[in-house]
Amino acid sequence: MFEKISDQLKKAKNIVFVTGAGISQESGIPTFRGKDGLWRKYDPMTLATIDAFYQNPKLVWEWYEERRQNILAANPNPGHKAIAELEQYKQVSVLTQNIDGLHQRAGSTNVYELHGSIITIKCTVCDFKDTITSNFTQLPPLCKCGNMLRPDVVWFGEALPQDIWKSAIEQSSSCDVMVVVGTSLAVSPANLLPVYAKQNGALMIEVNPDETPMSGTMDLSVRSSAAKTLPELISIVK
Ligand code: APR
Repeated sequence: MFEKISDQLKKAKNIVFVTGAGISQESGIPTFRGKDGLWRKYDPMTLATIDAFYQNPKLVWEWYEERRQNILAANPNPGHKAIAELEQYKQVSVLTQNIDGLHQRAGSTNVYELHGSIITIKCTVCDFKDTITSNFTQLPPLCKCGNMLRPDVVWFGEALPQDIWKSAIEQSSSCDVMVVVGTSLAVSPANLLPVYAKQNGALMIEVNPDETPMSGTMDLSVRSSAAKTLPELISIVK
């Protein structure tokens, strides 16, 4: 499967992964737009926008708490672990749209969370931010300043954390190889990152059971799952 790119892969110094919900699907966490995707069951405009939050903060919080419990009960899969292992051989960065923290739990040390994290919270008014360590006694939880706390995630219509986005563009524009794993590339600006890498002449690899809008521009597009394919990809470099 990887013969035609194995030499370039071995020579590569700096590999960037762009990941989405698909890489965590085999850890039991649903995707958004796949067959059992979250947006097939729930309306994102009533759960994942700032207006929805102010309209019904309790509903939004209950939904994120349910997801947080599922994520805490999940474990990294061979896909996450392969990326973490690759750090022993190459300079590796992970630009993830996932808020589940499974890359870090697998051992990846250079992870950029483009859409925030479900295990951190922030105040809607003051600059308080913290990691969730215990369950909340009330929803919505309140900050010590008296205002509501919210999940530290990026909702539709909100800007990405600018420092992380800036780094993501830099990483994408200077990598030798970009591996796009488990994302439909339906959401911007994250779906621009492969464009930066392509423009920079990086070797472009995609791992996804389904086609995406960029499949045609990839040097190699593998129609398979992350947990199955990434260990094979990494074995070439080892
Ligand atoms: N391995 C690899 N890819 C997979 C697997 C798997 N086991 N299972 C599904 N996929 C692919 C699907 O084919 C699909 O292309 O993962 C992709 C998941 O796409 P989405 O559900 O659209 O998730 P994602 O691309 O991460 O969504 C981007 O949208 O809803 C917002 O903020 C949310 O970060 C999210 C963003």
